[in-house]
Amino acid sequence: MKICIVYSSITGNTRTVAEALAAVSGVPCFPVRDAPDPADYDLLALGFWVRLGQADARTQRYMRRVLGKKIFFFGTLGAWPNSPHARRCMDGARALLEKGGNTVLDGFLCQGRVNPKILALSQRKGSHPMTPERRARLEEAARHPDAADLAEAGRRWRDVLKQA
Ligand SMILES: Cc1cc2nc3c(=O)[nH]c(=O)nc-3n(C[C@H](O)[C@H](O)[C@H](O)COP(=O)(O)O)c2cc1C
Repeated sequence: MKICIVYSSITGNTRTVAEALAAVSGVPCFPVRDAPDPADYDLLALGFWVRLGQADARTQRYMRRVLGKKIFFFGTLGAWPNSPHARRCMDGARALLEKGGNTVLDGFLCQGRVNPKILALSQRKGSHPMTPERRARLEEAARHPDAADLAEAGRRWRDVLKQA
């Protein structure tokens, strides 16, 4: 069975998770801009960062090229990973992949530090007012992905490799 990991990452959070999956499995890992043709693989781990409630656009473009494969998806986001927002991100990724006839074996999201420049910009624009709840969430996000996230992602990926 041919297996690879493909990820997109701007500030490094999703890359950290992708590299942890590669380290526990020995599976080759590619940034999406250098990703191989998915047709050459049977099982792919696909990693994205969440942008405006969805997988980032580059990963979505790649996902549309993935047809009839076994998939593990993973991602990082600023929101709480058990929030309705995160659930909608997962559902969106799953739906896009299933539309291509893929079998999604598992999906995993964890928090990732949000780029402070983006936060400053949104403060200036006033699009997301800083509430105590939001501050606490962003402070927590800044500590992720942490060792527990990487261990959990690795455990889930190893389980997928066993089933596949
Ligand atoms: C332009 C932009 C939009 C974002 N939109 C969301 C969002 O809708 N929901 C969310 O939870 N996090 C959002 N984030 C936070 C990122 O998903 C998070 O910081 C992620 O870990 C970044 O991954 P990376 O380091 O791999 O690039 C956004 C970040 C940026 C820069």
